Amino acid sequence: MSFVSIREVGPRDGLQNEDPVPADAKVRLLDALSATGVQRIEAVSFVHPKAIPQMADAAEVWQRAEKNPAVRYSALVPNTKGAERALAAGFTEIEVVVSASDTHNRRNVNRSTDESLDDIAVLIDLLHGAGAKAEVIISTSFGCPFEGDVDPARVAAIVDRVVADGADRVAFGDTTGMGTPRRVEEVVGWVRDRHPDLPLLLHFHNTRGTALANILTALRMGITEFDASVGGLGGCPYAPGATGNVATEEVVHMLHDMGYETGIDLKALLEAARLAQEIVGRELPSGVLKAGPRLPL
Ligand code: COA
Ligand code: ZN
Repeated sequence: MSFVSIREVGPRDGLQNEDPVPADAKVRLLDALSATGVQRIEAVSFVHPKAIPQMADAAEVWQRAEKNPAVRYSALVPNTKGAERALAAGFTEIEVVVSASDTHNRRNVNRSTDESLDDIAVLIDLLHGAGAKAEVIISTSFGCPFEGDVDPARVAAIVDRVVADGADRVAFGDTTGMGTPRRVEEVVGWVRDRHPDLPLLLHFHNTRGTALANILTALRMGITEFDASVGGLGGCPYAPGATGNVATEEVVHMLHDMGYETGIDLKALLEAARLAQEIVGRELPSGVLKAGPRLPL
């Protein structure tokens, strides 16, 4: 039986794209997700509170959340300052985000891709010095809402640079749902050829309905780590029209039926999705949440 490792990103990528909700609600959602059997949760981000007011209380939320010893928790940061805050809050796994396209990187973190990469080199040393792990998420890896196509060679060059600088792992983000199976094959193929042993994780949004097709394509290429967001919460506030991370229930439902294990209890996950829906006060896009699973649980 093959295991697929899901990282739940609803509390961060999901809630950052909704109207701000109270810390209490964030803690409740995190606690519900911690009880689903999911292996990993991206709990919060340490970004500028003016850029993302939804994450202004990240340290408080994290301090109050239950820490299930069976779950690996992580935080997302945009720069070294964010990494310092994440370490101070007690995180030992940190994701730093950089966009493959300059325009998206400037909109998101107010500097060029190269400037971010210089900062990331410092950040990786800082994290390693503190005994923490550094994952680099390369967003707009499958296309940019401002520049259009992104050359896979550019993505591969960023991977080369961050691996040389000591990144422990790399993730590819499809922030605006521009990925298709062909693009996944191209990017993953390029990177696999150059770095066969590098742990890779893929992060898809279902903006254009291709997320599960992309996941299936990546699975067939041997990728076994994916981000997903409870209920399909999420998006990117700097990317017009970017709504809907792939819903965790949809991924889990598909994988379990195909014989993969995720460790996740779909029933508990659906309860967490209903809680997420109640917290944000709107119907979430997950088909499994709306229609129920294929077979009764
Ligand atoms: N958290 C909190 N404060 C931060 C910070 C962080 N991660 N990074 C920088 N700051 C503070 C600096 O300390 C400085 O404070 P000061 O004015 O009191 O000295 C101030 O912000 C400006 O610093 P600067 O480095 O010039 O930042 P900036 O204004 O260029 O903003 C980011 C850059 C990265 C902080 C901001 O664009 C950001 O937080 N973006 C996040 C976007 C995001 O989360 N997108 C979704 C995820 S993909
Ligand atoms: Zn995302």
